[in-house]
Amino acid sequence: MPPGASPEAGDSPGPKLFHWASAAALGGFLLGYHSGVLAGALLWIRDDFQLSSLEQGVLVSLLPLGAMVGSIAAGPIADALGRRTALILDAVLLLVAAGVAALAPSYAVLLIGRGLAGLGVGAASSVVPVYLSELAPPGVRGRLITVHQLQITVGILVAYFVDLVFAGSESWRALFAIGLLPAAALLVGMLRSPETPAWLDARGSTDLAREVIRQIADEDETDRLLEDIRRTRELQQRQVGPVELARRARPALVIGVALAALQQFAGVNAIIYYAPAVMERTELSASASILSSVVIGAINVAATVVSFRLVDRMGRRPLLLASLTGMTVSLVALGAASELSLGRAGSWLALVSILVYIAAFAIGLGPLFWVLVAEIFPADTRAAGTGVSTAANWLSTFVVGLAFLPLVGAIGQGPTFWIFAAVCVVALGFVIRLVPETKGRSFAEIDAEVRRRWKRHAKPRAA
Ligand code: BGC
Repeated sequence: MPPGASPEAGDSPGPKLFHWASAAALGGFLLGYHSGVLAGALLWIRDDFQLSSLEQGVLVSLLPLGAMVGSIAAGPIADALGRRTALILDAVLLLVAAGVAALAPSYAVLLIGRGLAGLGVGAASSVVPVYLSELAPPGVRGRLITVHQLQITVGILVAYFVDLVFAGSESWRALFAIGLLPAAALLVGMLRSPETPAWLDARGSTDLAREVIRQIADEDETDRLLEDIRRTRELQQRQVGPVELARRARPALVIGVALAALQQFAGVNAIIYYAPAVMERTELSASASILSSVVIGAINVAATVVSFRLVDRMGRRPLLLASLTGMTVSLVALGAASELSLGRAGSWLALVSILVYIAAFAIGLGPLFWVLVAEIFPADTRAAGTGVSTAANWLSTFVVGLAFLPLVGAIGQGPTFWIFAAVCVVALGFVIRLVPETKGRSFAEIDAEVRRRWKRHAKPRAA
């Protein structure tokens, strides 16, 4: 081990850090759970409240819409009150949201519950990555933030399971009530976790910042990490709003927003949502196709675990490039399976394509959007930058969710998947040119690399 390195701050997260990270990443679990749970619950809610398809659509899209607002609002709150306090308040909001939805006497009240849940998961989706990135020494940062994505995928999988378990009783209220548990766990977990050293130090609480780092690093490493925090902050002195953000951190903002849009317009949620329908055409039995979402959910989790193991070893760029290549190929194949009359072989091709697509997404673009967005912004623009990028992600989720079915109706399923494939190709070009390798680098080094690439590839054409 090199002098100054400590076991905790070196290449393994260490139990304490992992504990804090897991607590905060429950925000990701809640995101996954609330996104996944409606898939099953919707049918029973529709019957209970006699909902029209428009009313169902409004109910579904309220989560990403609320989340968009929540992710924007959370940035300034996390800057003013601290990342930890923001997450504690968020946990309370998510408890209220789950309670309101579970007890909703009417459609209108249910809408309020889902809107609040949207605000809560949106806020978590922008604050959790910031919290994790500021807590983690550079050597384990990728893995720590990947814990967030891992929890999202576990949340989706658990929601699918719970949907299956309650399919007999059709009790949608129980599905929402179960959401109380992770929200309570987030609350308790954050009450026992510290504020981030970066935020504490920026507020002049250097001793407290040092105390937090000392719990995960030795004396020398603590000095080095504090120094890195300062160096990053010295680049710019104060916290900024959205307008200043666009002026001062434009390269990072372009990367964050573009990756957000590319992640969603590559079709992941369309696939996750509509996979059972496509699977049904693979001539599997009805019960097998009900289980298909669980299989997809499980592969999503498994591939995210693989990504977790690779992200700090292989680096972000190789994983992203492999991921996008796999997604492109599988989407082209999926489109072909939908368009060509291949009979049973076409059905199996569709099935394999979907599984490869999800694995490819989960190994790279899925987690790495969240990793990079937490890494590329300079300290004083980090919370605002992460908030805006996350809001762009939610807006894109909302748009794709609304547009997918009409698009399939207008141009057919095959060409729709090919459009997603084309988005992946654009994303490949974008990553090659503008996305920095952040593995093992300090925030100051990352900032310099972001600007170097921007000057080389974007500036000349903009001028
Ligand atoms: C995306 C979500 C998606 C999830 C699937 C996340 O990275 O942001 O929109 O549902 O991955 O695992």
